[in-house]
Amino acid sequence: MLKEIESILKGPEKLEERLYKVCKFLAENVKHYDWVGFYFVEKDKKDELVLGPFFGEPTQHVRIKFGEGICGQAAERKDVFIVQDVSKEKNYLSCSPKVKSEIVVPIFKDGKIIGELDIDSHTLSPFKDEDRRFLEKVCDLVSQYL
Ligand code: SME
Repeated sequence: MLKEIESILKGPEKLEERLYKVCKFLAENVKHYDWVGFYFVEKDKKDELVLGPFFGEPTQHVRIKFGEGICGQAAERKDVFIVQDVSKEKNYLSCSPKVKSEIVVPIFKDGKIIGELDIDSHTLSPFKDEDRRFLEKVCDLVSQYL
């Protein structure tokens, strides 16, 4: 799948369109990835995430402060954050009642966090070490095109 993602990223479209295609590809090719989207660190504010391209239902959480929700906690920790059961996470921003679990993977450039890949799943406890390793590679790849 990494090869396919790389070829999407190398495509002729605008960056936003290519990132949308990456989200769509992941959602359509991995059964337990139901909503896939990018958040980027706001250029001027630095402590706020702004929603980028995504595939899935629209979300009200277009801006998220560092520390808020699963996305904001991952940004603060600068580390992958997996919640296998969102009903057990107090600091959680719900997008849809269908969502049971979530993984957020930071995107780094020159050692700094510049964004993250956020994936919601309608399945409980679906994320394995394999997902983490794979998505970290996806984020490394994406970072090269930002
Ligand atoms: N659930 C996230 C908010 C973003 S949506 O999943 C698209 C959170 O708690 O940060």
